[in-house]
Amino acid sequence: MKVLAIGGSLREESNTNKLVKKIAEETGAEYEFLELKNMNIKPCTGCMECMMNEGQCSIDDDMLKIYDKLMTVDALIVGSPTYYLDVSAAVKALIDRSMALNYRGIGPMANEDMPWLGQHPLSGKLGVSVVTVAGAGHERALESLRIWMADCHCLELVAQLAEPVGMGDVDEMPEVIQRAVDAGKKLGEALRVS
Ligand SMILES: Cc1cc2nc3c(=O)[nH]c(=O)nc-3n(C[C@H](O)[C@H](O)[C@H](O)COP(=O)(O)O)c2cc1C
Repeated sequence: MKVLAIGGSLREESNTNKLVKKIAEETGAEYEFLELKNMNIKPCTGCMECMMNEGQCSIDDDMLKIYDKLMTVDALIVGSPTYYLDVSAAVKALIDRSMALNYRGIGPMANEDMPWLGQHPLSGKLGVSVVTVAGAGHERALESLRIWMADCHCLELVAQLAEPVGMGDVDEMPEVIQRAVDAGKKLGEALRVS
């Protein structure tokens, strides 16, 4: 069982990324931890080359590696800081660029009446989402991740964490860390029975 864990904050010592890593560690499964701050993922240009070219994205950047990893893992953990009540721009780029996967010719049809929506190659994989927020406004960020992972890519979300952390460090917040540990263990158990 393999897990891909993506920390969506670009900040050094990011709380979001620490929680994503902690969740991955606690699954007990083999995992790869990526941080978007170390990756170059440009925004989708809407060229629709992916639709015409079997899911191949026209942008040559680090998203090409993530496509292949997404296809092979059993579970995905994604975290985003809350920026203006929603996910960050870096995470939104990841979300938008993932559309190319729909045109690889793999998985159940998204909608038989709308074939241009493509297919769901990640269908049935497991997922965990996590958002951090200084004070308020995490709801839409969490919902954006849920819509992307569960509604758009048909992942089964086993946990969704929203953690208000103020200006602090999650390493000094045992209750927050414990929720990440619990989410990781839950994902690990779900992976073992799946
Ligand atoms: C551009 C920007 C927008 C933000 N918007 C919000 C917000 O709407 N509500 C809030 O409570 N915190 C907001 N914050 C604070 C971050 O959500 C918070 O510090 C988050 O935990 C940072 O995560 P990180 O440590 O993983 O980078 C914002 C921060 C930045 C830089």
